[in-house]
Amino acid sequence: MAKKKVQKRSAKGFADVLIGLQYGDEGKARIVDMLAKDYDVIARFNGGANAGHTIETKDGGKVALQQVPSGIFYPKKILYIGSGCVVNVEKLAIEIEKLENIKGVKVDLTNRLRISCQASVIQPHHLLIDAETGKTIGTTKNGIGPCYADKALRMDGERLLNIKLGDLLDDPQEYFKKIKANYLAVCGKYGIDHAHADNIIATMESFFNRIKEYIEPDTLFLEKKVQKGAKILFEGAQSIMLDITKGSVPYVTSSNTVTAAAYVGGDLSPNYHRKTIGVAKAIMSRVGYGPFASEFGGERSEKYCMATEGGKSKHPQPVEAKYDIEKLLKSGDYFDIGVALRVLSHEYGTVTARPRRVGILDLVQLAYAIRMNGVDELMINKCDMLNVFARTKRGVLPIVNGYTLDGREIDYVPGTVKAYYSVKAKVEYKKCFDSDVSGVRKFGKLPKELQGLLREIESFCGCKIAGVGVGPEREQFVKV
Ligand code: IMP
Repeated sequence: MAKKKVQKRSAKGFADVLIGLQYGDEGKARIVDMLAKDYDVIARFNGGANAGHTIETKDGGKVALQQVPSGIFYPKKILYIGSGCVVNVEKLAIEIEKLENIKGVKVDLTNRLRISCQASVIQPHHLLIDAETGKTIGTTKNGIGPCYADKALRMDGERLLNIKLGDLLDDPQEYFKKIKANYLAVCGKYGIDHAHADNIIATMESFFNRIKEYIEPDTLFLEKKVQKGAKILFEGAQSIMLDITKGSVPYVTSSNTVTAAAYVGGDLSPNYHRKTIGVAKAIMSRVGYGPFASEFGGERSEKYCMATEGGKSKHPQPVEAKYDIEKLLKSGDYFDIGVALRVLSHEYGTVTARPRRVGILDLVQLAYAIRMNGVDELMINKCDMLNVFARTKRGVLPIVNGYTLDGREIDYVPGTVKAYYSVKAKVEYKKCFDSDVSGVRKFGKLPKELQGLLREIESFCGCKIAGVGVGPEREQFVKV
């Protein structure tokens, strides 16, 4: 065969990376959805069904995306799931079916959705292990950690632990046998009844048959597209503070969520990188345990939000929705203000339905995330919620703009949870605006107090703000 000349880096094609800068749920999907029209491919590079994005359909309905990248409503865009992702075949098949059956919108993923043959498969035993071991971290119970752990372990004696989608395509009989062996081994270890093993494997195989047409055997798939001039948008799942190395370890997810990870799990060379877009929100939130320096109500809130009864959240949305919000806002206790903000800004988990812990915008954490990831453009969602502080007793807007650790000022996020839990956040109070900004579409029309705050964020973090979310609807956005 004649040797094909390898082309140099394309002049036209490039990749941008979009990541979450806080603890997840910053509203990344709505930004991807907005930007998608300028790209040819939207690609995921990490995580799996632990991500949960809700996007609005054109008729005002809602669709939850877990594994399929955002941008589904642009019929010509390619959606790519990279080798750094972990795939739950059953959930993916169901998600595809739901997307293809949205009322009034034609979504056809044939020839649009491509999944790397090197992506690892979430096996039934991963779900068992996560159920047994994930409680202390507060995982989403999607088997994400055990799957990445098996990827790193590779083999246990003769037993193959990391099984990829391509393996199942090459030889389903052989590899489903290996999946069963892994399941039986874990049932044995935890004393779990394995009577249904054959059924579980058969069900998984039938779901696999429904998604196998999407598996991409060409490991240079994205590179070839970029060579021809394609513009790629990498869509990060989870966020910086949940990165397995850079986040608040061990209270993190099990993949790398940083910009650089896009060029490992996204199957493209970093040569093509153009810029990084970071997404934050004006009122922060976190699900799961772990340090959160600016949390309303501190440790008390962490315990309250994570409390369960009979395996379910003790304080779900329907319970909190009945509280007297104005009374909570007038309380002198930050814990109460946090509960009110959670209710007003609908901060409940998409995947888990848990109440999210909420906190004051923390500029030290934000600056850390921006510097660590080389963020070029910053988008800040939920700025419309800041006027809620005008209804509090003091009527001022709190912002965290300093950390002290053992009496010493620091300008970074500490590298251990012990140190991070000990950090004292310095709060500065700003004058608050009370007007409703959800109808504003121009930066100059935002209240002076909000404009001033946004400029201060830019100078504190050393990064330009490119957009401001002023409401959940598609068009409720101010481009800067
Ligand atoms: P896992 O990713 O299911 O292993 O969960 C590990 C930690 O990451 C838990 O605290 C989860 O709540 C958190 N987490 C995982 N995915 C998301 C997400 O998409 N948004 C916010 N938190 C997440």
